[in-house]
Amino acid sequence: MSAPQSSAEQTDERLADHHIVVTGGAQGIGRGIAIRCARSGADVTILDVDSAAAAETASRIRDLGCEAVVVETDVTDQEAIDAAIETATAELGPIHGLVNNAGIQRSVPLLETSEAEWDRHFAVNAKGPFLVSKRVAEQMIDDGIEGSIVNVSSVGAERPFSGQGAYGASKAAVLALTTVLAKELKAHGITANAIKPGTVDTPMVEEWADEKAEAKGVTSDEVLEEAMSTHILDRPGRPAEIGHVAVLLLSEEGSWITGESIAVDGGYLKA
Ligand code: NAI
Repeated sequence: MSAPQSSAEQTDERLADHHIVVTGGAQGIGRGIAIRCARSGADVTILDVDSAAAAETASRIRDLGCEAVVVETDVTDQEAIDAAIETATAELGPIHGLVNNAGIQRSVPLLETSEAEWDRHFAVNAKGPFLVSKRVAEQMIDDGIEGSIVNVSSVGAERPFSGQGAYGASKAAVLALTTVLAKELKAHGITANAIKPGTVDTPMVEEWADEKAEAKGVTSDEVLEEAMSTHILDRPGRPAEIGHVAVLLLSEEGSWITGESIAVDGGYLKA
C-alpha cells in the first residue's frame, strides 16, 4: 500500500503571519512538520543539535517563500534554550506556535536498560518538552500571543513494543505534561495538545529496524513488514502526514481542541 503523494504538496494560508518553533526539525517527522507549516504560510525556527541537516530543512522552507532560522540547540540545556528563543524572537518576531518534536529512541529490553539510558530518554523526550514549553509559554505571555503548543508523543506511550520501556515511559510523561500545560495555560489563551504517531518512515525508524534485524538475524524489510502488520493501514506514515495534524492544532481551526492527544498512526492503537 503506497502513501498518497499529493497530500505533502498542498499549500494554504492557515498559518500565514505565524512564527512556529519546531524542535528536532533537522530530519524525519520534525522536518516534515516544519515544511508542512511553511506550506501553510508559517515562518519557522528550527532548534536541533544537528544544525547542518537543519540548514537543509531551512533551505526548503525558504524555497516555499517563507523565512527560516536555525539555532543549534540541545533541548536538555536550559541556557541554550533561553538563548535560542531570544534569537528566534529577535529574528522572526513573536512566537505563535511550538512543536516539541525532538526525541530519541533506543530499543533495549528493560532488564538490560542502564540507568543512564533511562535518564537520557527522559532528559530528551520528557524534560526537553517541559523546558522548551516553559520558556516559549513565558515568551507568548509576555508578547500577548494566544498560541499553541504541540507535543510529539508516540503510540508507544500507550502500546509500546517490547524494548521500548524507557522510550514508552518517557512518551507517557509527555501526555501528562500536555494535560497540565493545557490546564495551566488556559488563562493565557494558550492551547496544548499531543500527537501520537505510529510507525513513520524516518531515520529513527530505519535505525530501529536495522538494529532489530541484526539482533534477530532477519532483514530490516522483514522487521518493518512485521511492524506494519500491527497497523490497520499496513504502510509506514509519511512525516507530512504528521505535519497535517500539527497544522490543524497550530491554526485557528484547532482553537477548541486542548489537552487532547491525537493518534496519527494508521490505526495502530485500534488494531
Ligand atoms: P529522528 O531521529 O529521525 O529525528 C529526531 C530529530 O531530533 C533529529 O533531527 C535529532 O538531531 C533531533 N534531536 C535529538 N536529540 C535532540 C536534542 N537533545 N536536542 C535537540 N534536537 C535533538 O526521529 P523521528 O522519527 O523523526 O521522530 C521525531 C519525533 O517523533 C520523536 O520525538 C519520536 O520519538 C517521535 N515518534 C516517531 C515515530 C516514528 O515512527 N518515526 C513514532 C512515534 C513517535
